Amino acid sequence: MALILGLESSCDETAAALVTSDRRVLSHKLAGQEAAHAPYGGVVPEIAARAHADVLAPLISAAFEEAGVTLADVDAVAATAGPGLIGGVMVGLVTGKALAHAAGKPLIAVNHLEGHALSPRLAEPDLAFPYLLLLVSGGHCQLLLVRGVGDHVRLATTIDDAAGEAFDKTAKLLGLGFPGGPAVERAAASGDPAAVPLPRPLVGSGEPHFSFAGLKSAVARAAQSGDYRVEDIAASFSKAVVDCLIDRTRLALARAPGATALVVAGGVAANKGVRDALQSLAHAHDMRFVAPPLWLCTDNAAMIAWAGAERFAVGLTDPLDAPARARWPLDPDAVPVRGAGVKA
Ligand code: KG4
Ligand code: ZN
Repeated sequence: MALILGLESSCDETAAALVTSDRRVLSHKLAGQEAAHAPYGGVVPEIAARAHADVLAPLISAAFEEAGVTLADVDAVAATAGPGLIGGVMVGLVTGKALAHAAGKPLIAVNHLEGHALSPRLAEPDLAFPYLLLLVSGGHCQLLLVRGVGDHVRLATTIDDAAGEAFDKTAKLLGLGFPGGPAVERAAASGDPAAVPLPRPLVGSGEPHFSFAGLKSAVARAAQSGDYRVEDIAASFSKAVVDCLIDRTRLALARAPGATALVVAGGVAANKGVRDALQSLAHAHDMRFVAPPLWLCTDNAAMIAWAGAERFAVGLTDPLDAPARARWPLDPDAVPVRGAGVKA
């Protein structure tokens, strides 16, 4: 049994967790920054980095206290090394290096995307490789065939915005606040999903990539026209996103032979319409559907500790000069997608 300390600071959640290789989450601590970013309607990198620097050390102390263990008990320190907002990534990675050095234990530089990709195996011990993962969050929208530890095939990514980003921008356009996903979902509940004609970008196209920028522009036009109720725009937008996610995931399933399950992770997995539609898609393909508990879907350090445990188990550790990376594709062989210059 190995005990891993995990640290996460790549976006707007600061987190520390202690997780064992036999899947016990001894503690997981999280500090969000929603209030700090809310006035700007989105995450401000400089504010995020400063907030991580303020709260990470006390959060680590709290994680040790709750778990009833000390740094000396830890077998390895796993920290997110990218991709993400570089200031925040550096705060977590440097803290992880200092602790690993002080304890004389190995460092594991975790790719945040691998944290998401392996997290379903923390929740579901019998989830076997390979599985198809739809990762839908504020920063990512990817379809990954997860074949093993450090072995991921990226089948698709977004050529512009992530799905969560589209929810956040729609909420801002509709005056619903930040973060936008839950606010849009609440408004959509009393709206008509067929009221506003909106595009389904890339649906039917030959590669399973995503695009949400055109949808966002169409939402802006609908909002400015004054012809529609906010609830109807929210419902029509949500339906359009679900249609895009399902069409693209269906295409990816055809390219994922041998996949044992369809898995969803990321903050957008909280959306009931998204979850229900994916579940139906999996069932139509006679496939198992796995949606980890929501706390594990959104950014957290337990998934980083768990990815660390999986890597540690196969002997993958990193030197203390491991770099912090703003961009770090999980699949180094993935062909860059035209228009996707800013996405990992
Ligand atoms: O995974 P996450 O916590 O952080 C990132 O790595 O981005 O995802 C946050 C994203 C935000 O864009 C938020 O608006 C979206 O997930 N989200 C939702 C819902 N809850 C959160 N989107 C749609 N419906 C929801 N209920
Ligand atoms: Zn994430």
